[in-house]
Amino acid sequence: MSGAVPSGFLALPRVDDALAREVQDNLEKVEDLLRESVASSDPLLTEAASHLLAAGGKRFRATLVLLAAHFGDPSVPDLIPAAAVVELTHVATLYHDDVMDEAELRRGEPSANQRWGNSVAILTGDYVFARASEMLADLGTEAVRLQATTFGRLVQGQILETSGPQEGTDPLDHYLRVISDKTASLIASSAEFGGMFGKVDPETIGTVTRACDALGMAFQLADDLLDVASESTDSGKTPGTDLREGVLTLPMFYALRSRDAADERLKSLLGRPLDDEEAEEALALLRVHPAMAEAEATLRGWADKARAELATLPESPARGAFEALCDYVVERSG
Ligand code: IPE
Ligand code: IPE
Ligand code: MG
Ligand code: MG
Repeated sequence: MSGAVPSGFLALPRVDDALAREVQDNLEKVEDLLRESVASSDPLLTEAASHLLAAGGKRFRATLVLLAAHFGDPSVPDLIPAAAVVELTHVATLYHDDVMDEAELRRGEPSANQRWGNSVAILTGDYVFARASEMLADLGTEAVRLQATTFGRLVQGQILETSGPQEGTDPLDHYLRVISDKTASLIASSAEFGGMFGKVDPETIGTVTRACDALGMAFQLADDLLDVASESTDSGKTPGTDLREGVLTLPMFYALRSRDAADERLKSLLGRPLDDEEAEEALALLRVHPAMAEAEATLRGWADKARAELATLPESPARGAFEALCDYVVERSG
């Protein structure tokens, strides 16, 4: 262990120091592998595929892989490529998501679609995914299967979001299904990967995976709230993207339920593409609406669900770190 200074949520005071340093050291190995993995013989592809990795990102999913292994043996070398695989999978989906959402900013930099156009952005996402698959091939059939199932769910979530609820389906249930598939799936699988490679006992893997499934729901709800609440591009993304694209998120569903005549204007602006002026108006109205606090309470409920799963495990630095992540996700939204 070289004792690198922990960054991001590993630096939270609630995370055990020794564990944080160990995870941070391994994250640096993951980082080297990520960088190497996207190099290609084509300069444009190398530049486009390195773009988002170099721009930043929290490495939340790679961290989950490494943290989950601390319930077992965190020194298994395969944990490094396993963490890189989930992070590459995530990054590949960001390239595609920004095309779908017509997002201009990602990780504080122009999105790939903004910089090189949709075709390059789509192909780059495919390429990053291909590099993840190549790395995965060396990790065994079980890992390949888990990754394939997870990626299938993620894509299904993105499709369900695009197609909207079918006749007779409750729109709120549909939304929860979407975020479970598009986001919680990979967050839960990250913990499962860590458990699998870290030789964690199957029962604990089940518990941590369920906890991370709930944490993943809270994570996306926080992201959706931030899209409304942020007044700057501190998140590295442009606030109001969901409103502008007509994508309905939890605070909007809650606002749509209102019978107050004063909410009619806001309701008329939700769930359809908006121009800049309308988007500003909708943002201003929604930010001060009680639906925001209501959605935050729902987010807290998911974090509590994750904590309740973790509480069934014996106390340990690893459990403490996951509990700290629950707090982090809740605090992030506020
Ligand atoms: C963004 O994920 C996409 C969502 C599922 C909300 P992150 O918030 O983990 O993005 P990065 O990796 O830090 O950029
Ligand atoms: C998450 O959805 C997308 C993925 C699962 C890739 P969003 O569209 O809400 O994520 P951001 O806000 O663009 O990061
Ligand atoms: Mg998006
Ligand atoms: Mg999206």
